[in-house]
Amino acid sequence: MCVCSSQQSTMTQQLSPLKLLVSLYLLRLAISNCCYTPVHAVPFETSEDVAGAGQSIGDAVAAVLRDANNCFETYMQESRNASDTYASAYRTCRELGSKRRMEFTQMQCSTRQDMVGQVTEMCKNFCDCAEIDGDLEFFQCSARNAYKGVSTLQYVYLNSSAAIVELENKYQEAEKEILFCTIAAEERYINATAKAFVQLSKCLKAS
Ligand SMILES: *[C@@H]1O[C@H](CO)[C@@H](O)[C@H](O)[C@H]1NC(C)=O
Ligand SMILES: *[C@@H]1O[C@H](CO)[C@@H](O)[C@H](O)[C@H]1NC(C)=O
Ligand SMILES: *[C@@H]1O[C@H](CO)[C@@H](O)[C@H](O)[C@H]1NC(C)=O
Repeated sequence: MCVCSSQQSTMTQQLSPLKLLVSLYLLRLAISNCCYTPVHAVPFETSEDVAGAGQSIGDAVAAVLRDANNCFETYMQESRNASDTYASAYRTCRELGSKRRMEFTQMQCSTRQDMVGQVTEMCKNFCDCAEIDGDLEFFQCSARNAYKGVSTLQYVYLNSSAAIVELENKYQEAEKEILFCTIAAEERYINATAKAFVQLSKCLKAS
């Protein structure tokens, strides 16, 4: 069982030009779509123009407005659905990030333990030397351990350097994976939102 502490890497979320573009597009969609709220719908239903017109014309106009309200109602449901779907997809992408970090930590665990074990032993050996009373024995002990320590430090240096390269590469790969995941989610969201909007336009024209 591995007990290495899971150190958190900083897989920073970069704002790529594509992401910025998508954000701007979403913002534009939001601005053009956000003006409809149920509050705006109320005057439609209690319209005094409708009451003031002739009875049959009033009924016809009321029916048209009812149809229009239904269009907006459907649109709101579809938009809501698109947002919910996007939110859960986005969460899944973020979770993918922590899953990958945990995998990397697991992968490096034995290397870390091995390295920590060797360094700990090296330090302990030097501490043992310090306990020796006789000068000659102390220096002999220190020299012996320094000689062994060189190879330990060399191993630590080379192994760490290799691990750094490997990890940096893996973090980059993971970041790419997360980015593609969120872009795919964004694409589905934009498509769904656009589709809902087109349907709303068609529905309003038909009503
Ligand atoms: C949301 O949209 C998806 C994809 O169009 C569809 O499969 C699902 O049934 C919808 N859910 C609701 C609650 O409308
Ligand atoms: C570091 O050393 C361990 C144990 O010898 C080895 O399993 C691991 O592959 C090495 N790591 C790298 C990145 O070279
Ligand atoms: C989104 O819409 C574009 C253009 O209509 C289409 O090419 C693409 O396959 C769609 N993507 C998804 C994920 O539905």
